Parts: sequence; C-alpha cells; structure tokens
Amino acid sequence: MPREARVDRRRYLQAIGGTVATLSVAGCQSDSGDSQTLTAGTAPGFPPFEMKQDGELVGFDVELLEAVVAATEYELSGWEELEFKSLIPALNNGNVDVVAAGMTINDERDKAIDFSDPYYSSNQAIIVRENGSFSPSSLEDLSEAAVGAQKGTTGESVIKDQLIEAGTIPESQYNAYGNYVLAVEDLLNENVDVIIIDVPVANSFVADRPIKSAFVHETGEQFGFGIQSGNDELAGALNSGLTTVEDDGTYRDLTEKWFGQK
Ligand code: ARG
Repeated sequence: MPREARVDRRRYLQAIGGTVATLSVAGCQSDSGDSQTLTAGTAPGFPPFEMKQDGELVGFDVELLEAVVAATEYELSGWEELEFKSLIPALNNGNVDVVAAGMTINDERDKAIDFSDPYYSSNQAIIVRENGSFSPSSLEDLSEAAVGAQKGTTGESVIKDQLIEAGTIPESQYNAYGNYVLAVEDLLNENVDVIIIDVPVANSFVADRPIKSAFVHETGEQFGFGIQSGNDELAGALNSGLTTVEDDGTYRDLTEKWFGQK
C-alpha cells in the first residue's frame, strides 16, 4: 500500500473514531447534565466582590467562581441575586447550589451549610464621614454613635455581640440595612455615624466617596464559597478548582484586577 493511502486510511479511521468519541462524550454530558449544572447565588452591593455595573453583575467573586468552576467538570448555568441574609436559606432550599458572596466561614454558618477552602481574608473596618468631627479609635468610643451594618453579616455580629450585648450601645442605636450601598448612603446623609464593614469593601467605598476608615477591628475572617451541607463531591471539585486557579496565575490576575495588588 502506498504511504499516502495508509495515512489517509488512518486519518479516516481517526476521523470516524473521533466523531464517535465526541458523540458519546456529548451523550454522557447531556445524560448527567442536570446534576453537573450549578446555579450560583450572590448579594451585589459589596464592591469589589460583587456589584452591578451598567445593569451587569461583575466583581472578583463572580470572575473567581467562574474560573474555578471552569476548572471542574461542573458548569455554571447562571447567577441569582439575593439579599445576603437569604443566601443560606437559598442554598438549603435548593434555589442555588453555590454561594460566592464574600461570605465569612464561621461555626454558626458551618452548622447550616458547608464551605470550600478559604479564598480571601478580611477584618472589619469602622468607617465614618471624612470631614466629620467623629473619629473613634476603639469600639468603646462608639457608645453615643448610631451604627449601621448589612443584615446577617459578620459586621452585624460585631455590633450585636461586642456593642449591644456588651452594653456599649442600646439596640436602638443599631440600624440594619439590606445592603452596604444603602448603609453607606445613610452614613453620607448623616442618618448613622459609623458603618462596620469588611476592610476590602470599606476600601472600595472610601476610594470614591467622602468617607474614611476610622479604625480596624481585627476579626481574622476568611471567605469561602458556600454549598449545601454534605455535598462533598462539589466541595472537592471547588477546592481542586481553587488550587488550579491559584497555580495557573488566574487568582493573582483577578486580585490585581479587582484589588489593584498582587
Ligand atoms: N464577610 C461578611 C459576612 O460574611 C459580609 C459579606 C457580605 N456579602 C455581600 N455580598 N453582601 O458576613
């Protein structure tokens, strides 16, 4: 047989084999497609992790989760936007499969849901109006202040546990908001005197509004992706996806893009 013909025949067989293989893979994916498709949940208004830009959901969490899932055999079908305090219930009733919302891993939440490995660290900033006379330097200094935070957050926990429970302020001095954008607006409108909010998000608000960070309350928080309790397969996939994006430089590129640092 001339060489050309042999090559052609092999190519032909490869082409047939290739087509069959492609079809069977496609068949597999559509069979198990439902279980491999993930709906993500988040709570915008938390820049630069998740926010609306020209009507579009953007941010570090959005791009990070998309890159992580792309490194797994799961597929992301879309995003649900909810209030932060509705995210854990949405996981538990199956409306979303994974939460990417700058959500701090803690014991209380660990009872209701599971978390991926941590992907970001944070503390709580106490922010005030830039040109105001009020410049506290400790939680005790907040005794006369009207304080604000987003409902269901760890910023709110600082207020409830360290200010109200501790007797520093009465409950009436706490204003709870559906999101931090509204809280910061109320700070600018002088309806509250301080907001307690994650440091990287405080930095983002401070960058383009006349507000400043008065001091940082160290909480040593770590953010993780939330998933349903006991979904170890998804936890494993997200964790290896996180390792992949850390190793291949995607994680560094995203922190540089959204936080302006390496
Ligand atoms: N890290 C804080 C927490 O877990 C605040 C998260 C708020 N996230 C958001 N997307 N609004 O409670």
